[in-house]
Amino acid sequence: MLDKNVVIAHRGASGYAPEHTFASYDKSHYDMHADYIELDVHMTLDGEIIVMHDESIERTALTPGIIKEMTLQEIKQLTIGKWFNEKFPELKADYYAEQIVPTLKDIFERYKDANYYIETKSPDIYPGMESILIDTLDAYGLISDTRLKNRQTVIQSFSLESLIKVNQLVPDMPLLLLAKKGVLREMPDEDLKQIHAFVYAVGPSIADLDETLISRMHDLGYLVFPYTLNKEADMERLINAGIDGAFTNFPDLLRKQFRID
Ligand code: G3P
Ligand code: CA
Repeated sequence: MLDKNVVIAHRGASGYAPEHTFASYDKSHYDMHADYIELDVHMTLDGEIIVMHDESIERTALTPGIIKEMTLQEIKQLTIGKWFNEKFPELKADYYAEQIVPTLKDIFERYKDANYYIETKSPDIYPGMESILIDTLDAYGLISDTRLKNRQTVIQSFSLESLIKVNQLVPDMPLLLLAKKGVLREMPDEDLKQIHAFVYAVGPSIADLDETLISRMHDLGYLVFPYTLNKEADMERLINAGIDGAFTNFPDLLRKQFRID
């Protein structure tokens, strides 16, 4: 069961290679042995689920465009690593510049033994995405009873509505509710108790996370996996405060802080 010292590779090992590319997932999965690959999913005009963080392609593809207005064929023309080489010349690699946008299926074909932490990004602009996502997971054997019981496939979202839709489709799906700064602090215990009926973990921002909030979430029955834990001082502070795992761009550093191996 993945419930202690959990290392979730945020957009892959995205502190070392361009986010959401095979280059960054290869590093996190094969080299750094993160527990999970974290994926942000969007949907193309022709209904294919692809993996990227933003709704727009501009930041990582360096050309304008909106994913939901583009076909998969158009998305597949893009390369998405040049920005990283320009921003981080000390980490530059020629093959990063050639990385292309993976579909969810591409990822499932490549990492057959991986665990996945999948975020439904902007679900309001992609009606029906949850259902297509579940069908895709099912087609790759990723929602077997064993995988669900062991929390090897998890869905996460800032949108409670999206998590409710997933729960209606797959009642046993492990779910994590992401929360921006202040949201969990302000949410009444009564609401959190109701949500805990189908959500096993919360993903608070590190911006206002402390021991008191972590203890409160534990008392309500949640595991606590904050985002995004990149500095070693923050890792040390929040591990001492009681987190159960975290999203990180540097899976090797978080493993070290958790004293894994
Ligand atoms: O999914 C955890 C964390 O990634 C949430 O923030 O913006 O990086 O997707 P974001
Ligand atoms: Ca995410």
